[in-house]
Amino acid sequence: PSYENIIVDVVGTKKNVGLIQLNRPKALNALCKPLFQEIGKAVKDFENNDSIATIIITGNEKAFAAGADIKEMQNNTYSTNQKQGFLQEWEDISNCGKPIIAAVNGFALGGGCELAMLCDIIYAGEKAKFGQPEINIGTIPGAGGTQRLPRYVGKSKAMEIVLTGNFIDAHEAEKMGLVSRVFPVDKLLEETIKLAERIGTHSPLIVKMAKQAVNQAYETTLRSGLQYEKSLFYGTFATVSTIYGEFHGEDRANYSNGIF
Ligand code: HXC
Repeated sequence: PSYENIIVDVVGTKKNVGLIQLNRPKALNALCKPLFQEIGKAVKDFENNDSIATIIITGNEKAFAAGADIKEMQNNTYSTNQKQGFLQEWEDISNCGKPIIAAVNGFALGGGCELAMLCDIIYAGEKAKFGQPEINIGTIPGAGGTQRLPRYVGKSKAMEIVLTGNFIDAHEAEKMGLVSRVFPVDKLLEETIKLAERIGTHSPLIVKMAKQAVNQAYETTLRSGLQYEKSLFYGTFATVSTIYGEFHGEDRANYSNGIF
């Protein structure tokens, strides 16, 4: 498919990494509805493509994404938001079974920060800036910012970020646990691809189960999360050839086609 607001590519030495680059540079990749619909479609296509193991979402050096498109939403009313379910399609990304990594250079603000947090892992370039500046324009985060940010960084820091609208830089973001690693700007994408390829050496079925299990930690109590983990863990033993292959030191890649 051809897209207007994103560039889609398949990268990595084994061509098993799906790359989605946001491409509205003049608007700092502001997340207008067509852009978001295209991200959703690209993610779905990669998820359904058996040769893709991992997905990366990135922007450019100036901006990952500077937020929801302010020009598009400024005339919204309470009533139109309700009727259209404004921003509801964003959650589709979090339903993807394959790992999604955000590679953030430049601004990740408002909806841009929320998009990064919808991903499973965030890597950042050292000039990245994160923030939830919605309060500056008389609104609040609307795509998970008030819910996911405290789960990443705790209540006090999340409150500070949401109530001030101040930006935090990549190193602060790493220190508070929002970002897992920081790289020089021009190394970010290649390091992110390496991570994606590393994940892609494992059984896709087991990767999916591992992702589901970790995500459950954010959905439930400890006791039922541990139960959920156990049942998935026991379930991995039903993927006989994987366990057998591992046990006998066979090449994992033999079991990486998703058919067990
Ligand atoms: C629409 C945007 C935009 C946005 C930037 N642009 N952010 N357009 N929506 N969120 C456009 C500008 O209008 C301008 O277009 C062009 O991108 C370049 O921006 P400048 O401001 O000239 O760049 P700079 O001076 O470098 O400042 C960068 C910036 C600033 C600090 C990131 O652009 C900024 O503060 N942007 C808004 C950030 C923000 O408030 N985000 C939260 C949005 S609310 P023209 O055509 O004028 O040259 C939100 C709600 C979340 O996300 C709800 C759930 C998703």
